[in-house]
Amino acid sequence: MINIRGRLLTIASMVGRCKKPADVGTDHAYIPIYLVQSGKCDYAIATDIKKGPLKKAAKNIEKYKLSDRIELRLGNGIEPIQKGECDAFIISGIGGVVITEIIKTSVDVLKEANTIILQPTYYDEVLREYLLNSGFCIETESLVRDEGRLYSVIKAKYDGVVRSDDDLYYYIGRALFEEKDPLLNDFLKRRIDIQTRIVHGIEKSIQRDEKAYLKECNLLRKMKDSYTQFL
Ligand SMILES: C[S@@+](CC[C@H](N)C(=O)[O-])C[C@H]1O[C@@H](n2cnc3c(N)ncnc32)[C@H](O)[C@@H]1O
Repeated sequence: MINIRGRLLTIASMVGRCKKPADVGTDHAYIPIYLVQSGKCDYAIATDIKKGPLKKAAKNIEKYKLSDRIELRLGNGIEPIQKGECDAFIISGIGGVVITEIIKTSVDVLKEANTIILQPTYYDEVLREYLLNSGFCIETESLVRDEGRLYSVIKAKYDGVVRSDDDLYYYIGRALFEEKDPLLNDFLKRRIDIQTRIVHGIEKSIQRDEKAYLKECNLLRKMKDSYTQFL
């Protein structure tokens, strides 16, 4: 049995029993290998935009003798998957902007999925805002620390309800507050540091956009307030 930990284990644990998941941008294929071995699914599809990662994936799949249960496909995002073919999708270890583009390109395929697990490396605020504004609900979210870095893992599903939220919750998922995630304080601290640097950067710039500056200051204030309230 493959031994996965930290970020990968949190992602895989958020996938329930499913018929055929697709791991998009699979690289090493550790997630689909774990999903099949742990009995969460009988078959899986693993895709990647590059041939190199797919070769690595093929080697690992062969090592665990799962070539008849995990199919590899080359292509951009969800494009190699037919509508209705997979009931769960995992897109992890990719930037929030690219994940958003992948979803936008294949919304029709994702609308039918029971489970969508997303783990953006950066720009998670872009992804959360897009999801909520585009008829996806964020069912739950979890933070995980891996090799000193904090990652958020989002479980989403299409329900057609277009939502908007306070910009604070695009940066720090609302579910993290509601579910009192044990790593939320650390996540907030990191976000406050980043936001403080953004505000200082604008303060130092010669031509200051006053509207943008106030928006960033306001966001920083909300982050600090929620940190104090959450302590
Ligand atoms: C850092 S690895 C993450 C691997 C694995 N998903 C994980 O969470 O550890 C990112 C992988 O995504 C692939 N990738 C990046 N953009 C992609 C896209 N638009 N479609 C499919 N795969 C993509 C890369 O080739 C790379 O193998």
